[in-house]
Amino acid sequence: MSDFVHKPVLAAEVLAALKPTSAGCYVDGTLGGAGHAAAILATSSPTGWLFGCDRDGAAVEAARRRLSQFEGRFELRQGNFADLESWVPLASCDGVLLDLGVSSPQLDQAERGFSFQREGPLDMRMDRRQPLTAAELVNTAAQEELARIFWEFGGEREARRFARALVREREGQPLTSTRQLAEVIERLSPGRGRKVHPATRVFQALRIAVNDEIGSLERGLAGGLKLLRPGGRLAVITFHSLEDRLVKNFGRVRARDYTFTGGVDVPELREPRAPELKWVTRKAITPGENELAENPRARSAQLRVMEKLARV
Ligand SMILES: C[S@@+](CC[C@H](N)C(=O)[O-])C[C@H]1O[C@@H](n2cnc3c(N)ncnc32)[C@H](O)[C@@H]1O
Repeated sequence: MSDFVHKPVLAAEVLAALKPTSAGCYVDGTLGGAGHAAAILATSSPTGWLFGCDRDGAAVEAARRRLSQFEGRFELRQGNFADLESWVPLASCDGVLLDLGVSSPQLDQAERGFSFQREGPLDMRMDRRQPLTAAELVNTAAQEELARIFWEFGGEREARRFARALVREREGQPLTSTRQLAEVIERLSPGRGRKVHPATRVFQALRIAVNDEIGSLERGLAGGLKLLRPGGRLAVITFHSLEDRLVKNFGRVRARDYTFTGGVDVPELREPRAPELKWVTRKAITPGENELAENPRARSAQLRVMEKLARV
C-alpha cells in the first residue's frame, strides 16, 4: 500500500517540545504514517531510539516501510498505546508523543467505514482484530446506550431523538453501511448541516465508543508518564474538546503538590505530596496560518506538553 500518506500535524512544534537528541529514547504511541516518528528519528540521528505503536496493523506496516532508512534504531508493534507499559521499559524514555484520532488513510479508505462521505461498511475499528464494529454497536446497543454515546462522545444535542429513530430503523432492516446511517441522520435533520454535516457528531461518537478512545487515553496518559525519565516530556495532540479536557485535567491533577480523597477538594483536608509533572506551556499550542492553509485537517489540533519531575 504505497498511498499511505498522512501529513503530520504541528511537526515543528512537536520537535521543539521533545527536543530529540542522539542519546535519547522516544515513544510514538500513534505511528500513523510515521511522519512524526521519521522526524524524531532524523533529529536524533545517528543513535536516538524510538519505540512505536499503532492499533492499526496497516499503519504499523506503512511506518516500517517509511522508517526503513533508520533500521536498527526502532522497535514497532501493533497495539494500543494504553498498553505501552507492558513492553517499553519504565522510566527509560525522554519523550512520549500521542497524536490522537484517525489518520488520513483511515478516513479516506471507504472500506474502513470511518467517513460518512464514503459508502462503506459500518466498521470504524482502528484494530481490525477487535470483534466490536460500529455496525454491531448500532444494531445491538440499547436505545439509552446509543443516546448516551451520541451525547457524551459527540455532544449531539439530538442524541435521544437520533437514538430512538435508529432503533426504529434497525427493526426494519439492520444498518450496515456508512451512507445508510448518514442518510437516516440527514432525514432527521432537515435544514441542518450547512457548514457541518449533520452526521458528523454521530460518526465521531461511534468511533470513540467502538475504539474505547477515552478509556485508552486515560490509561495511555498515566502509562506514558511512567515510561519517562525525570525531565522527559509527554506531548499530546488532541482534535476535539472531550480529549483536550481529559489531557488538561490529567496534567492539572498530576501537577498539584497535594491530593485529596472523597472527590471534593477541601483545603483543610489536602494531603501534601510531590507533584509528578509541570506544564511546559500554559496554553495549548495550535497550528499557524501556513499549516492551516496547507493542511485543513490540522484545523482543530491542539498540542499540550508536560514534563516529568524528579521524584523527591
Ligand atoms: C492522527 S494519526 C497519527 C499520525 C502520525 N503522527 C503521523 O505522523 O503520521 C492517529 C493514529 O493513531 C492511531 N491510534 C489512535 N488511538 C490509538 C491508541 N489508543 N493506540 C494506538 N494507536 C492509536 C490511529 O490508528 C492512527 O493511525
